[in-house]
Order: sequence, then C-alpha cells, then structure tokens
Amino acid sequence: MSVLKTVALSKIYGSAKANVTYKALEDIDLTVEQGEFVGVMGPSGSGKTTLLNILSTIDTPTSGTVEINGKNPLSLKNKDLALFRRRELGFVFQDFNLLDTLTVKENILLPLVLENTPIREMEARLLELAELLAIDRILDKRTYEVSGGQQQRAAIARAMIHRPAILLADELTGNLDSKAAKDVMNALKEINEQKRATVLMVTHDPFAASFCQRIVFIKDGRLFSEIRRGTNRQAFFQQILDALSVLGGDFDEFSTIRR
Ligand SMILES: Nc1ncnc2c1ncn2[C@@H]1O[C@H](COP(=O)(O)OP(=O)(O)O)[C@@H](O)[C@H]1O
Ligand SMILES: [Mg+2]
Repeated sequence: MSVLKTVALSKIYGSAKANVTYKALEDIDLTVEQGEFVGVMGPSGSGKTTLLNILSTIDTPTSGTVEINGKNPLSLKNKDLALFRRRELGFVFQDFNLLDTLTVKENILLPLVLENTPIREMEARLLELAELLAIDRILDKRTYEVSGGQQQRAAIARAMIHRPAILLADELTGNLDSKAAKDVMNALKEINEQKRATVLMVTHDPFAASFCQRIVFIKDGRLFSEIRRGTNRQAFFQQILDALSVLGGDFDEFSTIRR
C-alpha cells in the first residue's frame, strides 16, 4: 500500500505577469510504500525543501496532486487541514524544536495531550518508543540537560507518538557531530524496522542517507535517478557518493563527509 503518492507535481515561483518565474519543481511522480525509508538528495537549489514543504502542507503546488494515506491535503482547509497535519504527519527538523520549559517526557507526550489520549495509553506508547530510541533514562530531564543527539531522538519520539502515516524529516543530522548523527540514524532505522514507520527524509549528508532503503535524487526540480540499498550500508554509502558525483551541482551546504 502506498502511503504517499505525488503525480506530476510542479511548483513555479514568481509571477507570470511580471515575467519572472522559476520552476522549483517539475513533474514529480513519487510514491512511498508503507514501511519504506526513503531519502531525498540533490544539489542546493534543486527543490528539496520545496518538495518537503508541499508534502508538509506548508506550501501548495502550482499543479499536480498529492495523496497521503488516501487523503488529498490540498482539498482540506483550516481546521481539517490542521487535524490532517496533526494526525497524519510527523515532523523532525534540523534544530530539534523541543520546548525547553518542558521535560523530555512532556515534550514527547505533547501531541497526545492535544488528542486527549488516556494516561495509561500515553505511558505505554512513551515507554515503547523511549526504549527503542534509547532515551528511556533521560525522560525526566530538561532539554538543555541532554545532548543534541538525545534531543533529536526525543524529537523523533514526539514525531512518532501519535502514529502518523508518514514521518517527514529535514536535515535531521545537520546540527549533530558524527557520533550523535550515527546514534540518531540508528534510532530512526530501529523505528522504521520495529514499528514499520514510513519515513521520508531530505538530507545533504551521504552518511545519514546510507541508512535509507532507497534514495531519490533530484536535480533542477526534476527526479534524476534512484538507488536502492542492498544489505551492506558501507557499499550503499559508496553508491551514494558515486550518484552524487554524477548528479553534479553545488553541494556547498555539506559541512563534512562522514563515514
Ligand atoms: N519563496 C520562493 N520564491 C522564489 N523562489 C524560491 C522560493 N523558494 C525557493 N525558491 C527557489 O526554488 C529553487 C529550489 O529551492 P529549494 O526547494 O529551497 O531547494 P533546496 O532545498 O534543494 O536547496 C531555488 O532556486 C530557490 O531559489
Ligand atoms: Mg533546502
């Protein structure tokens, strides 16, 4: 079953009247199956953020369709759209976005508090995720008392606790050192494999991408190529580097290349 399907998705910025238009996305057909772990890579300016913003319902396409969990978010307005985002989507950002006045546990439970979930159910879900993500011993700490890698794993727990149809992540290892990035990617892989979570992640980092099952590459707003991982992550890492060199373009946003 596909969880996400875009057909002929295009985004044009600017005004046709003023004759200053820019095709940020063109004719994107992308399908993500239930339980898949997909990475999106491409040079700076290739349209990755635009794509993620459209899927997150933050932005709307110029043409084409989006279907998430059998629903068309483009047809929803106001309250229904807010509910759709809250129930069907989970988000993880580069800078964690946790509330520092709350504990790790309170941050993770926030989406369930909004849904009036019974306390026993909240606790059960919390413990299960916290163990999978190896943050069960820091639940009562404040966010500023834990490391960046722990904060990002808490953010993953918060994004997953309401069991969204898909987890959307934008450069989630962008602010982490290599050890923390590895811990976060292993944790995400665990959630994908154990909970069959569907994940779509935008990244510049070939190391982070090597944890995905499939990578789609975009260039100049169009799908360029796609590779699938075999059993060996190291070999996939090399395949990703090769694909990026074929892709060309400007990857200046890379801070470092990790192994
Ligand atoms: N709000 C906007 N108005 C005009 N052009 C934009 C806007 N947002 C993005 N773009 C342009 O669209 C292209 C794709 O941008 P983006 O999706 O941010 O790329 P990426 O995330 O891959 O670096 C870029 O050329 C960018 O300058
Ligand atoms: Mg971007």
